Amino acid sequence: MNLILLGAPGAGKGTQGKNLSERYRIPQISTGDILRANVRSKTPLGLKAREFMDKGALVPDDIVVGMVSDRIREEDAGGGFILDGFPRNLNQAEVLEATLARMDKKIDRVIGMEVERKELVRRLSGRRVCRKCGASYHVIFSPPMNIGMCDKCGSEIYQRDDDKQETIEARLAVYEKETLPLVEYYAKKDLYAAVDGIGTVDQITKNIVGAIEGRSNT
Ligand code: AP5
Ligand code: MG
Repeated sequence: MNLILLGAPGAGKGTQGKNLSERYRIPQISTGDILRANVRSKTPLGLKAREFMDKGALVPDDIVVGMVSDRIREEDAGGGFILDGFPRNLNQAEVLEATLARMDKKIDRVIGMEVERKELVRRLSGRRVCRKCGASYHVIFSPPMNIGMCDKCGSEIYQRDDDKQETIEARLAVYEKETLPLVEYYAKKDLYAAVDGIGTVDQITKNIVGAIEGRSNT
């Protein structure tokens, strides 16, 4: 099963992708996470990507598309994958479709996580992430048991560079302009299912599973 999680910054793609990955035993492929790993290790790709990420802009398509094409060819993605944060514009969606077609594969479902803007800003501005295992926290909604320390692995938790107020606004504007047209693109292909992204994490996972499995039974 090849899934796309579509949604604005802060909609919960990372959070839900993790649950779905465990449930279906297929990898979550987050372009944001791969890019941040490159930024951290100061690879040439990371140095280039950082300029764009710090502004809240999209990293150029050629970089991201190449990264995803390589990743979906890895062995663990053979039985399916969950794309989190990709595609993010029409060109990326078209290239993905062509790449999958060459591999005799296709996208089976696109889940659109719908969350109102005010809530997105609230989630992003309070988000904290573990430097080591990537676990996500929120200073108010889901704080760690010990301030500044990950519950799961004990490492330091930090605020992402792009979770500052002005960068959040830029990312949301880019989402509306570049990524939102993908809703119509996938709806026309009868692949799109909207899921309410407000509620508890577990309830939202249930709604997503319903949208995936309801469809696969038809
Ligand atoms: P990326 O890392 O993909 O960031 P994003 O799309 O902005 O999304 P986020 O990771 O911020 O949010 P999320 O939906 O994963 O939410 P999360 O689960 O963490 O991209 C970063 C940058 O990389 C881009 O700006 C761009 O520069 C570049 N990039 C990446 N992909 C690219 C591409 N394809 N092309 C070009 N450039 C690309 O949740 C958010 C917060 O809310 C957390 O604190 C969480 O604990 C909390 N939360 C989650 N669920 C709930 C809930 N149900 N109730 C309350 N709080 C919740
Ligand atoms: Mg994310």
